[in-house]
Amino acid sequence: MTNNQRPSTIDHRPPTTDHHTLWGGRFGKGPDPRFWALNASLEVDRRLALHDVAGTRAWVRALGRAGVLTREEVAALLQGLDRVEAEFREGTFAFQPTDEDIHTALERRLKELVGEPALKVHTGRSRNDQVVTAFRLWMREALAHLEEAIRDLQEALLHRAEQDLDVIVPGYTHLQQAQPILLSHWWLAHFWALQRDRERLGDLFPRVNRLPLGAAALAGTTVAVDRRALARDLGFDAPLPNAWDAVSDRDFVAEFLFVAALLGVHLSRLAEGIVLFTSREFGFLELDDAFASGSSLMPQKKNPDAFELARGQSGVLIGLLTGLLATLKALPSAYDKDLQEDKAPTFRAYDLLTALLPVLADALRTLKVRPQRALDLLDPGLLATDLADYLVAQGVPFREAHEIVGKALRLAEEKGLALPDLPLEDFQRLHPAFGEDVYRVFDPKAAVARRRVEGGTAPQALRVQMEQARQALQTARISPSPTQAQGGAS
Ligand code: ARG
Repeated sequence: MTNNQRPSTIDHRPPTTDHHTLWGGRFGKGPDPRFWALNASLEVDRRLALHDVAGTRAWVRALGRAGVLTREEVAALLQGLDRVEAEFREGTFAFQPTDEDIHTALERRLKELVGEPALKVHTGRSRNDQVVTAFRLWMREALAHLEEAIRDLQEALLHRAEQDLDVIVPGYTHLQQAQPILLSHWWLAHFWALQRDRERLGDLFPRVNRLPLGAAALAGTTVAVDRRALARDLGFDAPLPNAWDAVSDRDFVAEFLFVAALLGVHLSRLAEGIVLFTSREFGFLELDDAFASGSSLMPQKKNPDAFELARGQSGVLIGLLTGLLATLKALPSAYDKDLQEDKAPTFRAYDLLTALLPVLADALRTLKVRPQRALDLLDPGLLATDLADYLVAQGVPFREAHEIVGKALRLAEEKGLALPDLPLEDFQRLHPAFGEDVYRVFDPKAAVARRRVEGGTAPQALRVQMEQARQALQTARISPSPTQAQGGAS
């Protein structure tokens, strides 16, 4: 449905007295056209159409149970709502320039379709509880879809880890070579960050899944509706306990944007690694042509644009979060029109991530690894820690061993040699515990294999970790119940 980045497709025109507004009675004249265009939110909130239909259906049934609507009126309205839903789904719903927002459009169309009973549908309801009900219904689905997209990227990372289990690469801290690791270790590091993002979405779900409807404007409706039954009807866990809070609470939006921003940060960190490692200077990863782009000037260029966009868009996501928090900061009165600004950033974050995640997943699935290039990059001094561990194994205290290896490194440097090429006499002059077997330390494969502690980079430890990762993927954090899924979050 609509992307709020697009230029307006709606020709906003202010209503006159014979048009349907939800509030025209006390006004002596129609709104100024410029104010009308500013105030109208249809461009953004038309995306809630199916969710607003679902919320309205449940409200109609609640009004029926409360005796406010007759059985015939309920039947007529539900039928009308089915028609409206079909029109939305088929894309035949004709928005009018005078439709202020999705709620106005829905009620206006309902009136055209069923007449008289449509004038009763808003009994005991306010757009304040209506809009946030629809928004929560939308978000339930959005969380499930986003979770799926994250899981897909996790699968790609896990698949890479399985494939690259024999690829040794330099591991960096401070962007300086630190210790050799298996490439799988690096892929899985990013897997677990995404797992936490997915868990956060799951944690958020119960706070989204609460019912505002029945709160009316701020004080609670005067209609004797059973809010618990209404909650069940819409698949919500329970009604929100306070009507004022129910219409003003946008914590779930802020939380969503935080999860989106942190996910963006994780994607950006992964992306930065890919950008570096695909550069000529590192060069042990190469993107598939389908996921790279060229330069208009320099024919040789192959640029990692997808990952640069991930890095760049993480900045946008952070901005969306801070923007919403600033909007919410000083709202004094349950509902203020400022709250209308909650949806655009949310849709933007959702659209951005659901476009980005599958591209990154397939870019990872298709990239090529150059194991020899990675080996060539390994600094010969990279196994200095292992050399110290060697001495420790001979009973030398670690602090002393660290010092001795430091001296060996300096000596090698003075002689213009790599550490593994230092003659045995030199080693032994530094400490008698050095023996012939010292040279066996300088095997990156053996070094990697020594890290077999749980969480370490040894192949056997990584196999355990990959099994944990497979298990983690099996648990869906959010499983939309059949009562949900009225629309499709897109
Ligand atoms: N378009 C509005 C929004 O998104 C609907 C709620 C309007 N409520 C009101 N009291 N004017 O927030």
